[in-house]
Amino acid sequence: MEYQRLGVNIDHVATVRNARGSAYPDPAQAAIMAEAAGADGITAHLREDRRHIRDDDIERITSAISVPLNFEMAATSEMQAIAMRHKPHAVCIVPERREERTTEGGLNVAGDENRLAVFIAPLVDLGCRLSMFIAADRDQIAASHRIGAQVVELHTGAYCDYHYAGEFAERDAELSRIRDMAAYAHSLGLEVHAGHGLTYDTVAPIAAIPEVKELNIGHFLIAQAIFDGLTPAIREMRRLMDEARAT
Ligand code: PXP
Repeated sequence: MEYQRLGVNIDHVATVRNARGSAYPDPAQAAIMAEAAGADGITAHLREDRRHIRDDDIERITSAISVPLNFEMAATSEMQAIAMRHKPHAVCIVPERREERTTEGGLNVAGDENRLAVFIAPLVDLGCRLSMFIAADRDQIAASHRIGAQVVELHTGAYCDYHYAGEFAERDAELSRIRDMAAYAHSLGLEVHAGHGLTYDTVAPIAAIPEVKELNIGHFLIAQAIFDGLTPAIREMRRLMDEARAT
């Protein structure tokens, strides 16, 4: 099966830094280490409230790495201006609510189609690869295709939550939705990515979906780095992805 890229999200290195208002740990240093450990790309989410990644981190991460930067952002004019300035390789549009702990659901592309079409057009024109972070839902995929996105990233958070809640029937139903919708998105010519909440325990069935070209994984890798170090954590995730695609 075709190689699957691993994008490493380093947001939560900045979360630890910001917890003490210190200069360390530095997410740019983590990005360099992640690249050396085999990450095919670095993902960073500049949130409206700057709770982890800050504006100057984007600059420093971009100049520190040679793999592509996947810049996650909400569809606001402030973020659009920042993305236009940095011209990242990829932009992933995510829903954002201030009170949430993390990106809790997918973007409602179908319900905001006209605005999002206008919003992403200048970024597409600039040469950024535009991705929509959505639930595995036919209407959302079709709308993402219509507005001119090149990529959909399917939200795996619900699948992971069901797994850890021991709700295996619901988990398997969600997994089969993700599989079916990956095939549907691919049939439209969209590149398919997946991510959110993935761990050593949950990655294999998602990594094994042939149409999924890239996984974006952050929180678990940074958490596991506390015990094992970042390099071994990334290498083990890479090994599990390769093993899932080989079998
Ligand atoms: N993909 C997208 C679009 C995300 O917003 C996030 C979280 O920032 C992830 C993947 C990674 O999720 P996690 O940190 O749970 O691995």
